[in-house]
Amino acid sequence: MSPLLRASGVSKAFGRTRALRDASVTIGAGEVVAVSGPSGAGKSTLLHCLAGILVPDAGEVHYGATRLDELDENARTRLRREAFGIVFQFGGLVPELTAAENVAVPLMFGGLSRAKAAEAAREWLERLGAGDCAPLRPGELSGGQVQRVAVARALAHGPEVVFADEPTGALDSVAGEEVLGSLLAEARGRGTAVVLVTHDNRVAAYADREIVVRDGVAAESPAVTR
Ligand SMILES: Nc1ncnc2c1ncn2[C@@H]1O[C@H](COP(=O)(O)OP(=O)(O)O)[C@@H](O)[C@H]1O
Ligand SMILES: [Mg+2]
Repeated sequence: MSPLLRASGVSKAFGRTRALRDASVTIGAGEVVAVSGPSGAGKSTLLHCLAGILVPDAGEVHYGATRLDELDENARTRLRREAFGIVFQFGGLVPELTAAENVAVPLMFGGLSRAKAAEAAREWLERLGAGDCAPLRPGELSGGQVQRVAVARALAHGPEVVFADEPTGALDSVAGEEVLGSLLAEARGRGTAVVLVTHDNRVAAYADREIVVRDGVAAESPAVTR
């Protein structure tokens, strides 16, 4: 599998806390990789370094031919907007906007007309089983619906990688499985890579590979045979 995203010897500290120590991981194009490990292990820090949200103190992050960690803030923001989709544990939707607007606005930033963005947003919400949510604001949605909208927003612009940080951590197991199921089905259908931080121990059932993080140290498992 051709490497799409590669962290090499990445370290990141917050004050005296060494959140990530010399982490080296590779994500292949279209690969679904689960990141697991105890709370506080450095999973989110690893994901944020891979996604260009955080700049590591040491080491390199490569996205294809681009040295991600050397880009300035604006260039990283642009890259995230174009090539990456991100789903947070609590959705991270804009509370003042409807579900449809939450999906449509980033598409308009990407250059789509208002009408085209609205149409694409509607289609994506339907695809995620959240068509009914379109006119509602996040405060009017269930946790599961919020995450469906967040997944629609993360996928709608056709990213190469979706980063999801415990996207089902706040949901009951049924809602969680539905959200995860649709995220992975849509991503696999499009050849979108997924970096999924999860506490769910049925990782092997849906990921191609697992990265286990403990005390800031990342260990990659070999590919799971599917
Ligand atoms: N912004 C921050 N400021 C200070 N400490 C942080 C910050 N982010 C993470 N940490 C610390 O770094 C360590 C790793 O955190 P994190 O990557 O969030 O772990 P995980 O996602 O595995 O729970 C923890 O000890 C956490 O408290
Ligand atoms: Mg975390």
